[in-house]
Amino acid sequence: MTKYLHGYQEEEQRRLYEQAGLLEGLIYPWIDLNRNKNLLELGSGVGGQTEILLKLYPNLSITCVEIEASQLSQAKKNLQAFQKRNIEFIQQDATQLQLDKKFDSAFICWVLEHISDPQKVLEGVFSHLEPHGVIYLTEVFNSSFHFYPKLPGLTDYYQAYNTFQVQNGGNPNIGLQLGNLLHQAGFENILVQPGGFLLDQSQPERFKLMTEYWKKLMLSSASEMVASGLIENHLVNEMNSDLDKISTDPDGIFFYQFIQANAVKP
Ligand SMILES: C[S@@+](CC[C@H](N)C(=O)[O-])C[C@H]1O[C@@H](n2cnc3c(N)ncnc32)[C@H](O)[C@@H]1O
Repeated sequence: MTKYLHGYQEEEQRRLYEQAGLLEGLIYPWIDLNRNKNLLELGSGVGGQTEILLKLYPNLSITCVEIEASQLSQAKKNLQAFQKRNIEFIQQDATQLQLDKKFDSAFICWVLEHISDPQKVLEGVFSHLEPHGVIYLTEVFNSSFHFYPKLPGLTDYYQAYNTFQVQNGGNPNIGLQLGNLLHQAGFENILVQPGGFLLDQSQPERFKLMTEYWKKLMLSSASEMVASGLIENHLVNEMNSDLDKISTDPDGIFFYQFIQANAVKP
């Protein structure tokens, strides 16, 4: 099984929850579940996306499938305000999906990058969707990351971070494959598009917010990367200070694209 890059520490669980809120405005304009009643969310983590979905779609019932028990218990805490809503939590491996019902929609966000056999996940979703059921995917495209000024600490750390994910069975560029994976799983009406951000000093607050967020994302794997011998501690500090330099540089640029896809089961 793929080793999960970010780990399950409390601090990481907080980061994941905050991340969902920070990126909400970028991810959700492209998603429309207004006509749907029961959604299957795979790799639901601590419920950050589930909460947004519950708020946006007051009539939606959600089944959360997650492999890690501690994520599910934190999700239950995070979603306490929605206890009157129809939410089900199931601990299961998304590559071996076996549920006793079918859904009219499915949602997967920042999950396939961590799974060595993403095709199996999409085939499982396909067999758990009703005819005309829709699927929405949002996944990383880490090679799109571009920043200015070029600084070696961040460059080297980012390269190691992506190498670490590959070494652990994940795929930091899985976003690019979404269209093909959906097609091979039998989906039709497939739409794929990039989303993301280009930040510079015309939006200094958002720029700073995003580089602070990026630090936390990068740090989530730091101790494991040091322990594995892939990097040394000083590179962690250099990455941190490079991100500060970028967000305060008058010519600073911070660019990243993720990929979204949606499709329909015929
Ligand atoms: C980066 S988190 C994203 C969580 C949530 N989708 C979000 O955006 O906040 C990825 C989640 O996928 C879960 N996961 C990884 N592999 C899985 C698998 N094979 N089956 C189910 N969940 C898995 C991890 O435990 C983790 O909670």
